[in-house]
Amino acid sequence: MSDAAIDRVWPDPASDLDDAALLKGIAFPAGRTWLRMNFVASLDGAATRAGRSGGLGDAADRRLFDLLRWEADVILLGAGTARIEGYGGMRLSDEAVAWRTDAGLVPQPAFALVSRSLDLDPGAPIFTDAPVRPIVYTVSSAPAHRRAELADVADVVDAGDEDADGMRIRQDLAGRGLYRIHSEGGPHLFGAMLAVGAVDALHLTLAPSLEVGSAGRIARGVEAPVGAKLASVLRAGDELLLHYRLD
Ligand SMILES: NC(=O)c1ccc[n+]([C@@H]2O[C@H](COP(=O)([O-])OP(=O)(O)OC[C@H]3O[C@@H](n4cnc5c(N)ncnc54)[C@H](OP(=O)(O)O)[C@@H]3O)[C@@H](O)[C@H]2O)c1
Repeated sequence: MSDAAIDRVWPDPASDLDDAALLKGIAFPAGRTWLRMNFVASLDGAATRAGRSGGLGDAADRRLFDLLRWEADVILLGAGTARIEGYGGMRLSDEAVAWRTDAGLVPQPAFALVSRSLDLDPGAPIFTDAPVRPIVYTVSSAPAHRRAELADVADVVDAGDEDADGMRIRQDLAGRGLYRIHSEGGPHLFGAMLAVGAVDALHLTLAPSLEVGSAGRIARGVEAPVGAKLASVLRAGDELLLHYRLD
């Protein structure tokens, strides 16, 4: 068994799932727009270690993180996460591309960012190495000069006045035929999306650590409690990989 071996605890217990079984378990529902989020958190709720999410997850979290991208039409990200986590051009592996092609999908998912300030470098790999022209969702009050610069490398779309509205983002993506929306965060984007009921599901890795300290949680912003129903529980050693549907 590899470090990244993943068992299914519930429903239908099974050991050492292969990629095909994992992909089946995380498939998007057919025939509808669906927006899901993927996060990792420590047992005491920290969303970061030393300022980044990477230190919290292990090989199994990374494996699921990658597989969650495979079926997506679009990967959605808040600008803060893109800046801090140092995202490059969104490009899936050859194996993922082959799987997508077999499944009748376009080779690479689109990449969409959400930013109020448009403080994004048009010369950054996130734009220059992108296999598909990215989309940047912003607000009507965003600086005009930055909007003009980014328009050379991305579709810049208004989704609100002061805050980008998650429902407008969903609708715009669906209007482009991008129904399977997979988001890798971060916390402020998640909070804003939850506040308007724009999120259908959460894939949460519960990392077996107590971080203590003052790291933030996976959802930030205006208080907006949202209930969740357990859809599945995977386990990799001491780590749980949880899937919830949101109310
Ligand atoms: N544990 C995990 O799984 C996980 C996942 C992702 C990120 N993280 C961590 O989270 C931290 C970043 O947190 P964050 O909350 O700043 O990330 P974020 O939500 O990705 O980024 C926040 C930024 O996104 C834009 N944004 C978000 N919602 C918006 C809205 N409704 N309208 C307009 N713009 C919006 C704004 O960009 P502008 O500033 O450009 O205006 C805002 O400052 C990093 O330390 C990262 O490592 C952890």
